[in-house]
Amino acid sequence: MKILSIETSCDETAISLLDITGPLEKPDIKVLGNTLLSQVALHAEYGGVYPNLAKREHEKNLPILLEQTLQEAREDSENPQIDCIAVTAGPGLEPALWTGITFAEELGKKWGKPVVPVNHMAGHIFSVLYNLDKPLQMPALALLVSGGHTELVHIKDFGNYEIIGRTLDDAVGEAFDKVARMLGLPYPGGPKISALAEEARRNNPNYEKLPRSFSFPRPMINSKNLNFSFSGLKTAVLYKLRDEKRTDEEFKEIVAKEFEDAAVDVLIAKTRKALESFGTDIKTLIVAGGVSANIKLSNELEKLSTDFPHITLRLPDKLLTTDNAIMIGIAAFVNISLEPELLRDQTPIKASGNLTLNS
Ligand code: KG4
Ligand code: ZN
Repeated sequence: MKILSIETSCDETAISLLDITGPLEKPDIKVLGNTLLSQVALHAEYGGVYPNLAKREHEKNLPILLEQTLQEAREDSENPQIDCIAVTAGPGLEPALWTGITFAEELGKKWGKPVVPVNHMAGHIFSVLYNLDKPLQMPALALLVSGGHTELVHIKDFGNYEIIGRTLDDAVGEAFDKVARMLGLPYPGGPKISALAEEARRNNPNYEKLPRSFSFPRPMINSKNLNFSFSGLKTAVLYKLRDEKRTDEEFKEIVAKEFEDAAVDVLIAKTRKALESFGTDIKTLIVAGGVSANIKLSNELEKLSTDFPHITLRLPDKLLTTDNAIMIGIAAFVNISLEPELLRDQTPIKASGNLTLNS
């Protein structure tokens, strides 16, 4: 099945053309064309994503990326040989989502092709289907960690999701970005915090044993449920910076490391708790979303998975950790395989900023 997919939920404009065949558990995914324009540099001066600027940029970028993607795939831009168009309908910034949806619907009319809505978080989950060595086994548990989400999802089967834990305030990626901002680092701060933290581990390998060492709280780590909270951790960093009044590089590195250790500890503890509650029912642990690129997190996940020999840990290919259109095409393939009527559904697609899985 040939799918042209479009992603505009946040600050990345992306289009890809995929040819996907085979079983859901291990599809054969050929990327015929793939393009992406990041607006990160533009939003950096606002310290976060500015919705109306994102919308304007998506509008400008989409026709350019479409042309490039079709050229890369050697498709005729007047009459491409595709089966459908997939577009992110939510969650995300509504003005940004509408840009992609309007563009997709117009193309659908022009080419006479169906347009299929995709949930962005399902995109992150199924990004792990790309380049699989062995079939993806269900049921699975997914830890979704991005700039807008921190969720634990019980995936009973393809298309059957239950959110069993979520953040009550900030998303973990958002906390990384806010702490980076406090340290004077540009948006998005996650990769920069991670690099500083790695530096601290190299320079001060025994930091925890030093007399002046400090650590940050692990909010809700012992709570009975699977929910998260990161805003208290962020505030603890703010107070530390205010009280110490140090701006030297070594201090920044240690703050980054202590913050990262605290955030990762909570993610791992809640994932462990969820895995324990399912016994041997869960076959796969999927970790996806932008923060899944974090080295400390992936190292700790590897360690965690040794305690659960019946599960296989799946993280996306590096190319697919942050937002992209390939994952949207893959999630569309999953949706269509489960519900082929989607290709005949003419209901206009609506942007939904708070779209949840299973809705
Ligand atoms: O999934 P994504 O690209 O966009 C959303 O759907 O939100 O995730 C972006 C988030 C940002 O908050 C960014 O700082 C974070 O992922 N991120 C990281 C790393 N790389 C990206 N956070 C921690 N460590 C990283 N290496
Ligand atoms: Zn995302």
